[in-house]
Parts: sequence; structure tokens; C-alpha cells
Amino acid sequence: MRISIIGAGYVGLVTAACFSELGHEVHLVEIDREKAGAIDRGIAPFHEPGLEALLKKHLLRNLEITCEYQEIAGSECTFICVGTPSSPDGSADLCFIRSAAHSIGDALKGEGDPHTVVVKSTVPPGTTRTVVAPAVMEAFGRQDGLITFAMNPEFLREGRAVEDFFHPDRIVIGYSEDIACRKVAALYDGIDAPIVTSGLEAAEMIKYASNAFLAAKISFSNEIGNICKRLGIDVYEVMRGVGLDTRISPQFLNAGAGFGGSCFPKDVSALIHLAESIGEEPRILKSVMEVNEHQAFRMITMLESRIGDLCGKQVAVLGLAFKDNTDDVRDSRAIPVISALVDRGAVVRAFDPLANTAMARIFPGINYYGSAEEALTGADACLVMTEWPEFAQLEDEFDRMKSRVIIEGRRILTCKEKEGICW
Ligand SMILES: NC(=O)c1ccc[n+]([C@@H]2O[C@H](COP(=O)([O-])OP(=O)(O)OC[C@H]3O[C@@H](n4cnc5c(N)ncnc54)[C@H](O)[C@@H]3O)[C@@H](O)[C@H]2O)c1
Repeated sequence: MRISIIGAGYVGLVTAACFSELGHEVHLVEIDREKAGAIDRGIAPFHEPGLEALLKKHLLRNLEITCEYQEIAGSECTFICVGTPSSPDGSADLCFIRSAAHSIGDALKGEGDPHTVVVKSTVPPGTTRTVVAPAVMEAFGRQDGLITFAMNPEFLREGRAVEDFFHPDRIVIGYSEDIACRKVAALYDGIDAPIVTSGLEAAEMIKYASNAFLAAKISFSNEIGNICKRLGIDVYEVMRGVGLDTRISPQFLNAGAGFGGSCFPKDVSALIHLAESIGEEPRILKSVMEVNEHQAFRMITMLESRIGDLCGKQVAVLGLAFKDNTDDVRDSRAIPVISALVDRGAVVRAFDPLANTAMARIFPGINYYGSAEEALTGADACLVMTEWPEFAQLEDEFDRMKSRVIIEGRRILTCKEKEGICW
């Protein structure tokens, strides 16, 4: 099928490359010219295993990147994959969605063939029907039933996105016209996963409810971990026993410094805002966020209880990305921790295998090092903020510290004399 994808971020670029691999002809539209230029040269603007290999294989063949919306004319489906960041009040900011929808309608103006607009971005229930469809139709200028709408939320995990595309747990398709559902389902031909069909609004809500539930599992584990810590119980031993219950599953039970990233914090906040705007009090969701915010500060409290006043102290921060295998620092738990360290006058010595550059845009004034060993040399203490597997190999490197105070926000180290935030 000839398809178009709007937005070459984590979701749009991965989706474009993977649909190309499935044999479709893909036109990717990205407004950021620099980003589009790099992708056109086969360079992914972020780290994602397997992505560049797919780009190299399909660019100049059945994958094209452009800054021009006109290129979507002639395609059968257009996926909207632009960002939906948090507004200052916590609600989802739909400005990129509105703008993309308008540009799609405008680009399709002269078309006489049926076209399906598919929202893949995470959007509050009602957005496809009441925001996207009217914006597309207003710019399109005709009400002849040629354009149909679907909602196909994305569940990929950064760092494993290509693998997740080809092996999803399920494919969700929300629709109002049958033809839209059939077209989107046909695109995934060859992928072995159950297809869950629903109304547009239910599909939008499936994504929010999934993310909120996973975030709740993490905050729940953190709360149990905080209690276990006081009682001298290892929460990882506890959760191993809990997670083997098939009703619970072992996933997302890792206690630690809390969840970050571009999705969980913003999506839970958007759901809280939505609930409040319709007169519902989202008590659990609010607690999920409260526990999460508190967790990062436990790192600081624990550090102060071990080395006292932080002013002038050298603190190594290992891990800046919000999780391993990515260079994405959006809402990383390292951000509130570094911020608190800087506020208290500590000298931060940061290292991440991939995310130093991204974090330097947020904290240009702290020190970045090319290895964990360099960051640790002369440090008064060390905080581990990301579960990079290579941190498990660190042992002698800690001998280079001035004093061996090592606090883990993620359970990854195997060295001796370390302490977990809630284990
Ligand atoms: N990142 C994830 O792991 C993930 C997973 C599942 C769902 N999502 C959801 O998918 C959506 C996209 O997330 P992302 O992380 O890929 O965002 P992103 O910010 O990385 O990428 C968005 C891209 O869209 C481009 N863009 C913005 N407006 C545009 C326009 N009008 N026309 C063309 N391009 C435009 C931006 O320049 C950017 O490159 C969000 O709603 C997010 O919540 C993200």
C-alpha cells in the first residue's frame, strides 16, 4: 500500500521504517528540515537498535522522507505521529495534531480517491472525532465521504522499538467506518498479533489506560519497596514472588527511582486533567504521580544522610537517559536529581553511554565524562540513575572515588558496598 506518515520522531520514523520493511511504499513528512536531511542520509536522529539498518535498506527504494505535505497525495492512508506534549496545566497539548490535520486536509484537496487518516499519536478520548476530523475536513473543503478516520495507538518501547513493531502484544484499531478498519488491518498483514477493534474513543482510552496502569505498577512497587527498606526486606525478593502470580505478571515491578520518559508522566498527567475536567476525582492516578515525584528526592535525602551537606561535594551521576538502550532524556529521573544536587551546591560529574549530549542541552553547566571511571574519579558519592547493563561490570572503577558511597536508583550494580534506594 502507498502510505504517508507525519512526524519523524521515535514513533513516526520507526513506524515508517518498519512499514517499509513490510513492503509498503512510505512517504514520511517531517517539518524539521535538519532532521529530515539527516534521515535522508540514512542517519537516525536518535539511538534505536536496528533502525539505521532499515533506513539504509529502504531509502531510495520504498521509503522517502520529505518536508512537503503535497507528497501525501496519491497515498491511501496517512498516519499522524506528531508529539502530544504536556501543557503547563498537565493537559495534552494538541497544537501539533491540529496543525498536522489541517495540512493533511489541505494536501488532499484535489484528490478524488478514498483516503484514511489514522491517528497514532497518544491523544485524549474524543480527539480523533472532534479535533482531527473537523480540522482535516475544513481544510479539505468537501464532505463527500472520501476521507475516513481511524485511531491506531502505539505501544512501542524506546530501545526496543523495531522489535516491538514486529512482535506487538496486540494491534488496536479504533474506527467508525468499516473501510478505515480494513485498510489499517491490511497494513499489518504478516504480523502475528491479535487485532483489537473498538470505537475511536475506546482506542484512544486503551492507550491512556495501559500507560496509567503500568505507571501505577511502578509506583506501587516503589511504595512497597520504601516499606520493605524500613523493615530490612529486599523488595526484589518480594516482587519476584509476587510477579510469578499470572494475574500480576513480573513486568514493571522494579522498585527504584521512579518512571520517566516521554510517555508515562505526560500521559498520566493528561488523564488526571481529563478526569478533573469532567468532574471525576482520579485518586489513584494522583497518588501514582505523587509517589513517583517523591522517589527521586529519596535519592537526595539518602545521599545527605550519608555524606551530610552537599555544598561543594563531588557527586557522580551514572545514567542520564530515562532508561537503558536510548539517548532520550525526556522526563528522565536524573533531571530532578541533578537539579536538586545543583541547588544544594554539589559539583555534578555525569556520565551516560549515549545521553551526555542530550542532557547537556538541559544542564550545560555540569561536568560530563566519557566513561564511568572518569566520572567516579575523586567523587564523594555516586548515584546510579539508569539501568545500563554495562554498569553491572563496574567494580574497580569505584575504588577511584574519594569515599565509597554508592546509592542505586536502579538495581543494576553487582559491586560490593552499595545501597539501593528502596532495597
Ligand atoms: N516515544 C515513545 O516511546 C512513544 C510510544 C508510544 C506512543 N508515543 C506517542 O506518539 C507520539 C509521538 O511521540 P514521539 O516520541 O515520536 O514524538 P517526537 O517529538 O519524538 O516526534 C514528533 C515529530 O513530529 C514532528 N512534527 C511536529 N509537527 C509536525 C507537523 N505538523 N508536520 C510534520 N512533522 C511534525 C516533529 O518535528 C518531530 O520530529 C506522542 O503522542 C507520544 O505520546 C510515543
